Amino acid sequence: MSAPGVDNKRRRILVAATSVVGAVGVGYLAVPFIASMNPSAKARAAGAPVEADIGKLEPGAMLRVKWRGKPVWVVNRTAEMLAALPELDQLLADPDSAASVQPESCQNATRSLKPKYLVAVGICTHLGCSPTYRPEVAPADLGSEWKGGFFCPCHGSRFDLAGRVYAGAPAPINLEIPKHTYISDTVILVGKGGEAA
Ligand code: FES
Repeated sequence: MSAPGVDNKRRRILVAATSVVGAVGVGYLAVPFIASMNPSAKARAAGAPVEADIGKLEPGAMLRVKWRGKPVWVVNRTAEMLAALPELDQLLADPDSAASVQPESCQNATRSLKPKYLVAVGICTHLGCSPTYRPEVAPADLGSEWKGGFFCPCHGSRFDLAGRVYAGAPAPINLEIPKHTYISDTVILVGKGGEAA
C-alpha cells in the first residue's frame, strides 16, 4: 500500500538507483581494503628480499625462489662441478665476467660468495626465456664437452654451472648474479647485501 500521491514507479527507480550506487561504492572500498590486507605480496612485487632455505639442498640439486617476479636459482655445486669450471674458460664468451652483471663480491672464478652455492637469476640474457638445468656430464644432446650447466630451449644458448655463457651463443653475456647474503649457514637472503657472512 502506498500513501496517496506517492508515485510508485518513481519510487522503484530511486530505490534501484540507490542500490547501484551502494554496490559501486562497496566495490571502490573493497580494492584498497584487499590491497592493505596483503602487504607482503606488494612488498615482494616491489623487490623486497626473499629467503632461500638451502638446509636440505642436496649436492648437485637446484632450488628456485622468486624475487622481483623473476626466478632465482640456487645450485649446490659438488666438488666435481667446481673443478670443471676452469676447464671451460676457453669455450666461454666472458669467462671473467668482465661484461656481465653481478655484485663485485661475486666477480670471481665461481661467481659466488661461497664457491659451493651458485645463486643466479634464471633468465636467459638473450631474449628472456628461462633455461633448463642440465647438470649431467656429456649427455647425448649436448655433446662430450658438456660438464653440466643450463640450456636455453628458445635459441640454444648454453651456460656453465657458474652461469657463464658459451661463445657463439645468441645470449651476449653471462646470467645475472643477484645481490644476496647469507643470514645463516642454511639461509640465503636474495636481494640484499652482497658480502659473505
Ligand atoms: S632466449 Fe635464450 S637463447 Fe634466446
